[in-house]
Amino acid sequence: MKHKKKKTKGGDVMEISMNEVNRILNEYPKEQRYCLAIMQDIQHEFNYIPKEAMKALSEYLECPLSSLYSMATFYKALSLKPKGKHIIKLCDGTACHIRGSNTLVRGVERELHISPGETSEDGLFSLELVNCLGSCAMAPVMVVDGQYYGKMTMEKIPEILAKYREEVPAQ
Ligand code: FES
Repeated sequence: MKHKKKKTKGGDVMEISMNEVNRILNEYPKEQRYCLAIMQDIQHEFNYIPKEAMKALSEYLECPLSSLYSMATFYKALSLKPKGKHIIKLCDGTACHIRGSNTLVRGVERELHISPGETSEDGLFSLELVNCLGSCAMAPVMVVDGQYYGKMTMEKIPEILAKYREEVPAQ
């Protein structure tokens, strides 16, 4: 199987399966209108879009790399940096802001040593600051992998994150 090595933020070496990238590419006709759909599939597979995959996509669609990078940076759902296994979203919409979402940001920063937009050294968590999640009655709201936690306090953060840490099987 063809692999390329990729350094993560924490310094670990992660293998990118080029076979997997090629499998995704081959599911689509070589037409530029499928560019976004292919990038979404790659993002889904690797949790981000590796540089090697961008290059392969550029060659496959005969599309300039610069256009692909513009597209990837434009769409919020796409990431060019490795994301954590678990995605934490902290709402900073008006209702959550009034009820102390700033404190929650500090709580997660203290627990994981990351700021919004960053991924923890162990690759387990990424933190994102988002706009209203549509659950203002539960403000302030934190969402981890799609699971909503309402009326959040700083004190609840360590316990909630511990649950997700425990999900990781021992190496
Ligand atoms: S403002 Fe946070 S859920 Fe609406």
